[in-house]
Amino acid sequence: MCGIVGYVGEQQALGVVVDGLRRLEYRGYDSGGVAVAADGALHTQKRSGKLANLDKALDERPLPASSAGVGHTRWATHGSPTDRNAHPHLDCRQRLAVVHNGIIENFAALRAELERSGHDLVSDTDTEVVAHLLEVEVTRGADLTRAMQAVCGRLEGAFTLVATSADDPSRVVGARRNSPLVVGLGEGENFLASDVAAFIAHTREAMELGQDQVVTITADAVEVTDFAGNPVDAARYHVDWDLSAAEKGGYDWFMRKEIYEQPRAVADTLLGRRGAEGELQLDEMRLSDEELREIDKIIVIACGTAFYAGLVAKYAIEHWTRVPCEVELASEFRYRDPILDKATLVVAISQSGETMDTLMAIRHARRQRSRVLAICNTNGSTIPRESDAVIYTHAGPEIGVASTKGFLTQVVACYLLGLYLAQVRGTKYGDEITWILDKLSQMPTEIQQVLDSMEPVHALARDLAQTQSVLFLGRHTGYPVALEGALKLKELAYIHAEGFAAGELKHGPIALVEKGVPVFVIVPPRGRDSLHDKVVSNIQEIRARGARTIVLAEEDDDVVAPYADQLVPLPKVPTLMQPLVATVPLQVFACELATARGHDVDQPRNLAKSVTVE
Ligand code: M6R
Repeated sequence: MCGIVGYVGEQQALGVVVDGLRRLEYRGYDSGGVAVAADGALHTQKRSGKLANLDKALDERPLPASSAGVGHTRWATHGSPTDRNAHPHLDCRQRLAVVHNGIIENFAALRAELERSGHDLVSDTDTEVVAHLLEVEVTRGADLTRAMQAVCGRLEGAFTLVATSADDPSRVVGARRNSPLVVGLGEGENFLASDVAAFIAHTREAMELGQDQVVTITADAVEVTDFAGNPVDAARYHVDWDLSAAEKGGYDWFMRKEIYEQPRAVADTLLGRRGAEGELQLDEMRLSDEELREIDKIIVIACGTAFYAGLVAKYAIEHWTRVPCEVELASEFRYRDPILDKATLVVAISQSGETMDTLMAIRHARRQRSRVLAICNTNGSTIPRESDAVIYTHAGPEIGVASTKGFLTQVVACYLLGLYLAQVRGTKYGDEITWILDKLSQMPTEIQQVLDSMEPVHALARDLAQTQSVLFLGRHTGYPVALEGALKLKELAYIHAEGFAAGELKHGPIALVEKGVPVFVIVPPRGRDSLHDKVVSNIQEIRARGARTIVLAEEDDDVVAPYADQLVPLPKVPTLMQPLVATVPLQVFACELATARGHDVDQPRNLAKSVTVE
């Protein structure tokens, strides 16, 4: 969750760190803080609330010039979001400053131990113990690197830590366990950050850090060790997007920009997937054909929007491969003792690649000898690194807290996986796979067509800005789309929104329908067994009870049109592709309605982009 930046180099550290925090604010926005080492002392500033408050405080009391600094933007876990609990946290002598992402589970015991030996801890956070433990090590003669190695050995839980010292302003030291930290490699400067977005304005060369590693950066060098101090080789990589992708590019919200980027994001996810004979090829797939043929069960694990992408994918994967496919919330998965073995393929879907519940679930699966394949948007992140195989979604950075292009590209990547399995296992003929791939490659154009006709949806959102409750109904792949539409509205507009399987309506949810309640209905394409007609009947049932029906249906669907108070036409696409066009108006609706209510769309209350604590 929280965002962390560390810097050493030729530039003014404060400017680099605050600029980095601005690009990481999507990770948490309860408070912000910075510390720089200058003139033999530490200088800090921190404020509760969004970064604008920190900016104001820095304008009123600027910090001195420095070549080293650390910064933090917080999503509160231990201790309310006050100035006092904002990071950085300092030791008793105010010579060491620490920022932290994660939860130190044994902090209470460590705090009691420190207080018994005379340390004065002033915040309610778990983080502060680290500053004082570092102090103990440094006063025994350790440098900051050795102190960090020793302290990490005592911590339980998940943490990224970055520390600086008034006594050694030439270095900044970081450490990670179960929380993200990447190194940015510059010329005469180096960076530490939760995400490459923090330093993409300065360098696109990066280094991955592994589990339980400590990194020391100076202006000219980067050294990585394990917690015992043994040197470790860390992999370098080039970031394949640039600063413009991390900026709003003329849009008012990142979310709106990301919605409109979806045709490009889907196209990029499909790019380069066909071999010379037109066959599907997945370059990042590190599992052999033999291993893929051995699979007898697929379990998709994910959270939130990624979970709904998995629910969509199940329809396609089972249909194409005839392999049973379960979809499960990562947070529930390992606690129910799932039946897993070598023949189970666990597919972990995660935009960020850092979601703690998903990470813990894949570790559980690997301990049971299952093969794990990650579908991920973030190069160098933990989940793909700890998986046996990966398919990257190539959506570019998703900064709006509400996932949009993440969802569409996850569905596409899952479809590529399903088709690849079908190809390897021979459950689809080559020409069938080619036909589906051709249809998929037309989807960017279809999505663009939807985006070009969104004005009525904008007007609808303004009209419904004060509504208290919205329902969403769908069937088959339309069901997870309904769930996703409801989630978008909950997280952005803070109103009651629920998605239901249309076939379940009469088993209870219809009791929620009363005069004027807006109900979005995603209507399956005609020709999809009898589902189309059944959903049309559902629309008549809710209309008879006063619902205001907002119907998403194929553009020439004249059967449903008479029952729609508002019709949102969708391009005619194959059934399994419909989620890729039907989700888009629901994203736009949520974004517009939240805007009309005056909410911050990119940073909704209580949320953070990546949930890196359980
Ligand atoms: O990074 P991940 O895909 O693992 O994140 C999973 C969920 O936390 C995420 O999709 C969340 O539900 C979004 N805020 C939904 O818009």
